Amino acid sequence: MKKFLDLGLQPLANKYLTRKDLIIKRKEQFYHLEVGFDNKTKLVSILNKVSSQKMFDNNYPYRSSMSKTMTESFKKLSKEIIKTYKPKLILEIGSNDGSLIKNFNKKNAICVEPCKNLAKITKKKGFKTYAEYWDLKLAKKIKSKYHNVDLIYSANTLSHIANLDSVFKSISYLLSDNGILIIEDPSLLECLKRVAYDQFYNEHIYVFSLLGIINKIKKHNLQVFKVEKLKTHGGSIRYFIKKNLNLNIKIHNSVKKHLKDELNYKMNNFKTYIKFGEKVKKSKKNLISIFNNIKKKNKKIIGYGSTAKSVTVLNYCKIKSETLDYFVDTTPNKTCKYMPGTHIYIKNYRKSLLDDIDYIFLGAWNFKDEIFKKEKKFIKKGGKFITHIPTPKII
Ligand code: TMP
Repeated sequence: MKKFLDLGLQPLANKYLTRKDLIIKRKEQFYHLEVGFDNKTKLVSILNKVSSQKMFDNNYPYRSSMSKTMTESFKKLSKEIIKTYKPKLILEIGSNDGSLIKNFNKKNAICVEPCKNLAKITKKKGFKTYAEYWDLKLAKKIKSKYHNVDLIYSANTLSHIANLDSVFKSISYLLSDNGILIIEDPSLLECLKRVAYDQFYNEHIYVFSLLGIINKIKKHNLQVFKVEKLKTHGGSIRYFIKKNLNLNIKIHNSVKKHLKDELNYKMNNFKTYIKFGEKVKKSKKNLISIFNNIKKKNKKIIGYGSTAKSVTVLNYCKIKSETLDYFVDTTPNKTCKYMPGTHIYIKNYRKSLLDDIDYIFLGAWNFKDEIFKKEKKFIKKGGKFITHIPTPKII
């Protein structure tokens, strides 16, 4: 693994602090966020990994149902899965608060979600839920009860697990011979194109490429047969995967096309990543300069969407509460808390909070369209947004 990016010392993303934590000066855990490229597998990953138990505990704040963009995307996919693959049994790895699985019949669905606070939600709704980490032990337990599963789905979860061989081995073991695996995660190609260095934080152990996925799954007798580009999470890829031995499904043109796009961008070449690292340094310099210029004019700036991604940006650029007054967010487990590392306060979103604001830093840049639609009034009265994607600018 060769390093190409150093984002400095970072706190654990999603570990929002309470007022009490600040008063008693509870020590936050920091880790060195460095990113590297593996020339053999073509996978990009962070170099210093934090254990799953530390990240995905009983108090995990992220809720996928908080965004209309995500729930609509899940609803559309669920309809497609039911129509095209007609699964007798579907298993979701990382079911979060059930925003995808709620579109399926309870009798034909199994949830796997290690964060107990989230697993409780799907359990309560009547879905069979395993509040456990995904591994071979769990796959064996499920197999002994249900035999095979004919559709396994996982969004924004497998890239959070360090041991991908264990992940795919367990999936291949449980999936029926004609079964389908669908995974979706942020796209490395989009991350590179948009200089979205904030896709890297402790939970995002990998940012996947098709090149990397193909290399990783082949030894587990799995094969990508179709890919779809998605707008979610700042540009994602949905990979449709089958077992090698299943010859009934033909390889779709999209696989060849996306591979070509990745190779045209020279994603198999370390030099591409070195160049990306240089762009990130420039992005930091320009973002700091935008903030400094606004503050010189005594204008008020807040953040919108206290995302894990913002944690990387703010800690890397050392932007604290002297610059950003506070964040607004709709997620109950984040509000009335403080951002990791920078300790910027997070207020529960109300439209009126934007009334006397001049500038908003778009922490949730991946929901730009949804947010711009919602904040027409702010834009109309001359309010401006600051974004660092793809280059720092005021819009
Ligand atoms: P994510 O980028 O990790 O998915 O997180 C998005 C965050 O942005 C999440 O905390 C919810 C927040 N958010 C709002 O507060 N208001 C909104 O309108 C949208 C779309 C997201």
